[in-house]
Amino acid sequence: MDKNELVEKAIEAKQFSFSPYSKFRVGAALQTIEDKIITGCNVENASYGLTICAERVAIFKAYSEGYRKFKSIAIASDDKNFCPPCGACRQIIWELCGDIDIILIDGNKNTKVFKASEFLPYPFGDENLKGNVNE
Ligand code: THU
Repeated sequence: MDKNELVEKAIEAKQFSFSPYSKFRVGAALQTIEDKIITGCNVENASYGLTICAERVAIFKAYSEGYRKFKSIAIASDDKNFCPPCGACRQIIWELCGDIDIILIDGNKNTKVFKASEFLPYPFGDENLKGNVNE
């Protein structure tokens, strides 16, 4: 599967965004190692803090269907600038997907590819839970 297909799926996923408060639509497309594509969009809530980002929707959908290994995630918005994953999503991507490619897509369909590790240097992970001196 080529990168363009994943990019198009992220753009398509954006149409389902439920974002009446921010009016900021985001779509994500996650590629498994089997080359299955699982999409997500942001889903907002009147209690703003309950909003969930497109990336996390895609990743949690994938986990809930049994997928555990991934190659890349594409993230699309309508903005003239790229929409990088928020801090919470960076942590989730790192722990649940590893050092995958992150493809950002702006509102003009320009793309830029990063590694997950570029967005989260010096990450906190499961290894950090093993060195507790009080145990
Ligand atoms: N949002 C995402 O879905 N992904 C991101 O990477 C950044 C932000 C959503 C959350 C909220 O619904 C809207 O964009 C504005 O913050």
